[in-house]
Amino acid sequence: MNKNPIRLGVNIDHVATLRNARGQNDPSVLRLMFEASDGGAQIITIHLREDRRHIRDEDVHEILRHSLVPVNLEMALNDHILDFALKSRPYSVCIVPERREEVTTEGGLDVIKYKDKINQYAKVLKEAGISVYLFIDPEKEMLRHISPDYVDGIEVHTGSYANHFHILRERERELEKIRMVHDLSQDLGLEFHAGHGLNYHNIREFLVFPQLKEVNIGHSIISRALSIGLKNAVREMKELII
Ligand code: PXP
Repeated sequence: MNKNPIRLGVNIDHVATLRNARGQNDPSVLRLMFEASDGGAQIITIHLREDRRHIRDEDVHEILRHSLVPVNLEMALNDHILDFALKSRPYSVCIVPERREEVTTEGGLDVIKYKDKINQYAKVLKEAGISVYLFIDPEKEMLRHISPDYVDGIEVHTGSYANHFHILRERERELEKIRMVHDLSQDLGLEFHAGHGLNYHNIREFLVFPQLKEVNIGHSIISRALSIGLKNAVREMKELII
């Protein structure tokens, strides 16, 4: 069991996906944002994608204006989105890879290939007072190319852990890869976060990392909210991670 408090970031992109399906303002992203923080979300996470398939520019403005908790903006290495982030100033940014064809963020950032661009983005964001995180696959090699001067930490991609959760040996193999990244992140002075595919069934076994500071969870919480409401769905998740 993790003895450190872990912040719960709730990703509300899917509220916007549902709203956009009918082109009106129902469900209201803002109303659900308040329900999430009422339920105990300590971070509101949103991904402004290049194709604006869910969250849109005006949502980001409204969320930043009204949120009672810090807002974490996920963004790709895109100069327009970088300008947008610098102007709108979320609490933190998590840089993610983005492919238009993907259903959701499918893999981590290639820190080796995009090292210069990542450093350039991280430097200006940091200078603007925005904390910077990188979404990476659980591969130790990636961490060695991160500059702790500009980057505050990493969010490790837990999709593979989630996909292999039900086969014990495979789950343990995934946890071991993540453990190596967790340990190295501490040696490098990088904060350790996690996200993707985490749900009510697999979260507890994930809490073995003593320095885990934040988890970002979207799909499972929003799905559960259809049955019990978002406030209760967030509360249930909070009870599991405390
Ligand atoms: N973290 C990052 C960087 C993501 O891109 C996503 C998906 O938008 C999440 C966390 C949340 O993943 P899920 O919706 O599977 O909980």
